Amino acid sequence: MEKLRDQILSMKPPDPLLLAIESSCDDTSVAVLRGSVPVSNIISSQLVHNQFGGVVPEMASREHMRNIRAVAEQAILQAEVSVNQLDAIAYTKGPGLPGSLMVGASFAKGLALSLGKPLISVNHMEAHVLSLFIGENPATFPFLCLVVSGGHTMMVMVEDWNKMQILGSTTDDAVGEAFDKCAKLLGLGYPGGKLIDDLAKKGNPKAFQFPVAKTAAFCFSYSGVKTSFLYFLREKDPKWIEENLPDICASIQNALLKPLLDASSKALQEFGISKLGIAGGVAANSSLRIHLGSICEKMGANFYFPAFEYCTDNAAMIGRAAYFKYQQKMFAELSEGTESRLAIGHS
Ligand code: KG4
Ligand code: ZN
Repeated sequence: MEKLRDQILSMKPPDPLLLAIESSCDDTSVAVLRGSVPVSNIISSQLVHNQFGGVVPEMASREHMRNIRAVAEQAILQAEVSVNQLDAIAYTKGPGLPGSLMVGASFAKGLALSLGKPLISVNHMEAHVLSLFIGENPATFPFLCLVVSGGHTMMVMVEDWNKMQILGSTTDDAVGEAFDKCAKLLGLGYPGGKLIDDLAKKGNPKAFQFPVAKTAAFCFSYSGVKTSFLYFLREKDPKWIEENLPDICASIQNALLKPLLDASSKALQEFGISKLGIAGGVAANSSLRIHLGSICEKMGANFYFPAFEYCTDNAAMIGRAAYFKYQQKMFAELSEGTESRLAIGHS
């Protein structure tokens, strides 16, 4: 009897069941997590923007409105749970497109209110960093993190889940944005990062030279390389471009990634921290992963990267970040707003 009582007392309660919503840009995503482990992660990408070569904010909000309920139902169905079992609802507070953020936040608040469950607000950029805590080889604090997405390019010192400091960032375009703009100049689709990555695999990265901007330590600039790419293409015949597409993609990709590789080597040397992570959509880039992997190996540093499905925008990373907050009971008020310009380190 005594033994049974001890056994019951030592039994851990199951990890909480969290539902997380991501709607900061043009992907409507809902995930269900058991503690830190995603059990579903549904992502519905909005195809309406493809014809415009970039995201149209008003259309993005409308598409979120149209999709969010079905995406949430699918996430719950795939996780094989019922809404009544959920312990908390998390959503992206910012940064992002105002209208898009509001759709996710309103849906999360309605759900939290009707279920009588706590609400957790999450900083989207911090969630990209904390995506490195999903899976079998999670990062350990402290570490340096290169955050590279469609809207951000920065080197971050990550001391803890709620203690991050930006060491430097882009002074103009983000690297993902530069990938997308170069892809558009080549007449490829949107978003163009993955398309350039795929074509570059068959090309020579040294075939053509594009200037790489010199900036202050851990700062980046992409407007110059983008303009030189435009001038380079303007002088060429469309047929020649088509025939040389793999070499062109490999060369421009090489120019876009070089500053990221240089900054990473410098950060590892300068801060005496032998752990580097990459996060955000561009962290899916195969050449970036290969080169950073070998830099880390040469420097005896650990290299962390998210699984592909957690690189580009997804709700699982929002849920993972929310779990850190859940454990500290850091819940949001129903009156909490969204912030389109929320910086890292300000959750
Ligand atoms: O993190 P994300 O989904 O959205 C933002 O928060 O911005 O990042 C999207 C960006 C796009 O610019 C896209 O072209 C880029 O990530 N991207 C890539 C790759 N996959 C996505 N860039 C280079 N190589 C890739 N494989
Ligand atoms: Zn993102």
